[in-house]
Amino acid sequence: MSKIKKITCIGAGYVGGPTMSVIAQKNPDIDITVVDLNQARIAAWNDENLENLPVYEPGLDAVVREARGRNLFFSTDVNKAIAEADMIFISVNTPTKTYGKGKGQAADLKYIELCARQIAEVATSDKIVVEKSTLPVRTAEALKSILDHTGNGVNFHILSNPEFLAEGTAITDLHNPDRVLIGGESAEAIEALVQVYEAWVPRERILTTNLWSSELSKLVANAFLAQRVSSINAISELCEVTGANVEEVSKAIGQDSRIGSKFLKASVGFGGSCFQKDILNLVYIARSYNLREVADYWEQVILLNDHQKTRFAEKIIQTMYNTVNGKHVGFLGWAFKKDTNDTRESAAIYVADHLLAEEANVVVYDPKVTAEQIYKDLDYLGTRSPEDNRRLVRVVNDPYEALSGAHAAAVLTEWDEFKTYDWTRIKEDMKRPSFVFDGRKLLNRLELETLGFAYYAIGE
Ligand code: NAD
Ligand code: UDX
Repeated sequence: MSKIKKITCIGAGYVGGPTMSVIAQKNPDIDITVVDLNQARIAAWNDENLENLPVYEPGLDAVVREARGRNLFFSTDVNKAIAEADMIFISVNTPTKTYGKGKGQAADLKYIELCARQIAEVATSDKIVVEKSTLPVRTAEALKSILDHTGNGVNFHILSNPEFLAEGTAITDLHNPDRVLIGGESAEAIEALVQVYEAWVPRERILTTNLWSSELSKLVANAFLAQRVSSINAISELCEVTGANVEEVSKAIGQDSRIGSKFLKASVGFGGSCFQKDILNLVYIARSYNLREVADYWEQVILLNDHQKTRFAEKIIQTMYNTVNGKHVGFLGWAFKKDTNDTRESAAIYVADHLLAEEANVVVYDPKVTAEQIYKDLDYLGTRSPEDNRRLVRVVNDPYEALSGAHAAAVLTEWDEFKTYDWTRIKEDMKRPSFVFDGRKLLNRLELETLGFAYYAIGE
């Protein structure tokens, strides 16, 4: 197989955009076109002003500045890009199904299937089709069947190349990955993709496996990471009743090199578009093979995470004399973690929903999330009318305004800037007693208590 010259990526989202930008940056001799049905998203990727890129990631603007217009292009002409490419990445969304069989658990593969059908219809030359989206194990089989049965006598090779980047650190993760995983059946196709990554990733970090190991490894990696967060969050509740301190426990166990120190930070609960979706999918797959104990085991990671979000909201209510009705709770943060504008499955959404059910007045400040997105997240839950969400929730652009006159401050995201605020000024502007509920263990207890705050943190 000759060297790849043209790559197309279907899906210009949080994965497709940054991943292709870095591949283009590191392979100036390969032309890369990222396509999407969403015109507004493509327009934003093409915006002259790099502050308007649709994805906020530290360092992404510099990579786009370097490659865009040189060998990196964003377009809505999906057919043209498919027809011209030697290699096509599918990086579309694979959300949890909201209807029919597997509702609430299985991955919805309709977008993937649409891509396969479109590739089959349009292609007139041989292609390597790369699964970049996270998919249930054995999806490649279905893709191959669609491509082979509706194609025009064209040869397709399917590879699985799951993405392991984390949001907020996507560019450093892409520049310096722990590993790149490529699963496939054709040694030639695998080698063609290896060469793309070899432009900057050392060969020993590029792992090649069979298709099914690659597909399954992605789900398992996310399940293990999420499981660590749920494990330490379970211990955080035990710390709160025993007088142990979860940070000290994390440090003590994390120094054991067999356990390791990462992903042991207790929090208000994990969010993001991946962990919950991928574990639910793993649970669904295990159930579909009648592996009940396996399914129940992994499901517990989600149940504990739901418990942690509820527990945090309950703690706020209980501490504020069992009622938050009409009380002003200032939210610091809405994104599911720092350094991203992504709010999918963010714990903040569920904590807010719980407080709003008690008729609290929530005032939100997040450095990167828009008011429009915050209302959209709340409306999507369908718990109350859009009018009620707008009556009870206010979104502001200034953190001091979010907390001025507040009965309580709640830290939902670990943005660094929250640590640098003038907490003396905040204390003066808040009602007394002035509560701080720190869902990220971000702030300094001693400093806040000295200022007169009543400070509550997860796991203490
Ligand atoms: P996203 O929703 O941000 O982007 C997906 C894009 O695909 C959307 O812009 C959508 O318009 C487009 N799309 C859908 N169907 C299309 C079609 N038929 N033709 C053209 N465009 C189409 O999703 P994402 O966060 O980038 O995730 C994509 C995949 O990568 C998912 O499977 C996800 O599980 C996986 N993943 C995500 C992350 C992450 O951090 N977000 C990390 C690793 C893996
Ligand atoms: C995750 C995986 O890390 C990444 O490899 C995969 O490709 C996509 O899913 P992401 O969801 O972007 O990445 O961010 P991650 O850093 O994993 O954080 C997920 C959630 O867990 C966040 O809400 C974060 O705040 C929370 N978390 C993480 C904790 O609460 N404690 C920790 O110790 C680590």
